[in-house]
Amino acid sequence: MKKTTLATVILATLVTAPVVQAYEKGDWVVRGGFTTVAPDDESSNIFVGESDLGVDLTVDSNTQLGLNVAYFITDNINIEVLAATPFTHDVDFGVEDPLGSGTQLGEVTHLPPTITVNYYFNDPAAAFQPYVGAGLNYTFIYDEAFTSANDDAGLTDLSLDNSFGVSAQFGADFMIDEKWHINGSVRWIDIDTEATFKLNGAEGEVADIQIDPWVYTISIGYTF
Ligand code: NI
Repeated sequence: MKKTTLATVILATLVTAPVVQAYEKGDWVVRGGFTTVAPDDESSNIFVGESDLGVDLTVDSNTQLGLNVAYFITDNINIEVLAATPFTHDVDFGVEDPLGSGTQLGEVTHLPPTITVNYYFNDPAAAFQPYVGAGLNYTFIYDEAFTSANDDAGLTDLSLDNSFGVSAQFGADFMIDEKWHINGSVRWIDIDTEATFKLNGAEGEVADIQIDPWVYTISIGYTF
C-alpha cells in the first residue's frame, strides 16, 4: 500500500501543474493578504521652543490586512493600487524614559494608499512571474496621541503631517492555476513627516521624521 504525505501531494501538484497562461492586456488581478509596514526610521531631535531635548523618536512596525487591485494595460505592464486596513504604530522615545513616563511616547495611525506601475517579465511558460515597479504614495496620518502617562507629564496636541512620496517594489506571483496565484512583494516607500506638540503649553516639534518603511506583503490573488 502506498503512503502519501502532504509533501508528496504538494510536490506532485507542482510538478504536474499545467502550463499556465501568462498575463494578458485587459486582465484584472485582485489580491488579499497581510501587509507589514516596518519603518526604517530616522528622526531629528525633539525640540521644545529653542531647546533641544537631546532625544529623537522611533516608530515601530505594524501588520494589517492588505488589499491590492491591478489592471494590465499591456501584456507586461499593470497599474496597481495598494490599500489596507489602517496601520497603528507605537512611537517611542529614542532613549529610555526621558520624562520618567516609560519609553512609549504615543501612537499614530495611518493609511498609505500607493499607486504603482509594474513591469512583468511575463514568461508565458513559467508558473513563477516576477515583476518590478515604481509608484507614488500618499500617507494620511491621523489619531496621533500621547500615552496617558505622557499626557500626565504635560505632553499634548501631538500632530504629524501627511506625506507624499515615491515608492519602489519587486514581487512575484506563483501561479497555482489559470485563475489563482500566491503573491509576495517587498516595497520601499519614502514617507517623511514632521511632528508638532505642546509640553506644558510650550510649542514643541520634531522637524524631520523619515519613516521610510519597508513594506512586506503576502497574499492570495485571483485573475479575471
Ligand atoms: Ni525619506
